[in-house]
Amino acid sequence: AWTTSSIVDDTVAAIREQVGDKRAICGLSGGVDSAVAAALVQRAVGDQLTCVFVDHGLLRAGERAQVERDFVAATGVRLVTIDARDRFLAALAGVTDPEEKRKIIGREFIRVFEQAARDLQAEAGAEGEQIDFLVQGTLYPDVVESGGGSGAANIKSHHNVGGLPEDLQFDLVEPLRALFKDEVRRVGLELGLPETIVHRQPFPGPGLGIRIIGEVTADRLETLRAADAIAREELTAAGLDRDIWQCPVVLLADVRSVGVQGDGRTYGHPVVLRPVSSEDAMTADWTRLPYDVLERISTRITNEVSEVNRVTLDVTSKPPGTIEWE
Ligand code: XMP
Repeated sequence: AWTTSSIVDDTVAAIREQVGDKRAICGLSGGVDSAVAAALVQRAVGDQLTCVFVDHGLLRAGERAQVERDFVAATGVRLVTIDARDRFLAALAGVTDPEEKRKIIGREFIRVFEQAARDLQAEAGAEGEQIDFLVQGTLYPDVVESGGGSGAANIKSHHNVGGLPEDLQFDLVEPLRALFKDEVRRVGLELGLPETIVHRQPFPGPGLGIRIIGEVTADRLETLRAADAIAREELTAAGLDRDIWQCPVVLLADVRSVGVQGDGRTYGHPVVLRPVSSEDAMTADWTRLPYDVLERISTRITNEVSEVNRVTLDVTSKPPGTIEWE
């Protein structure tokens, strides 16, 4: 029978066969696919795998720790974290156009990852070894989609670690190529990965950078991160994580409105809650969240995040609205 544990056993055996005694690297994004792919390869070849995690500073609260602490504790994987926060902020300075932001973040991400791969390659070379393999979390639907040629217009440039330059030639290890998302999650649980990673909702590669409408700055990131953490906490506490596809929180950084708090006038920024229900993100409906949950999120954000004095709700389906605002 095609049980989860037989999927794990067969995949681990196939990876051992493919990688042999060679070395591999894997970029971790914090998402479930790269985490499960890395965990399978780690189980198959242990320390022959090195994982690379790029902190671009556009992550949500706690995400770096989830990878550095929880994922490493669960798998024992060798991990290198690259702190590229300043570099991304510098590259994004003054940029407000959504597509330009996406291109800059994608480009910088690939550059940082490539440099890390080169550094590891040089280290390995000095020890008389080479890194021959790159692990990717490609799923079955990705395989079908890219083979079938996408007819869909390119609405937004999605970013993932794509082609690597010529002087970095790796063979690909793609242990999830035969699996659907729900199978990947089951494999992740079977491998003992934390629920927070296995059931993580979708989060875009460009991260909070495309949820700040306006220029991305360190202060604005801090504000959005705090508001987002509150929304996620309350949705989790209400037991709604499995009911919604995701709930982006968007900071309208160039908009201000007048408010009143205590005896004082405020002139702060609004955030938008964008809860959506969806099967595949191609279409989505806005989620009718319970009013008491919305109220708790709103009260907490306006009390706890000093820059934010207004919480609004996005009630647009997709189409016509995309899920993300940029
Ligand atoms: P949109 O905004 O196009 O989003 O309706 C559809 C889904 O894709 C996610 N998303 C991304 N995921 N890289 C990703 O890996 C990206 O650049 C990206 N942009 C959007 C979004 O969160 C939603 O789940």
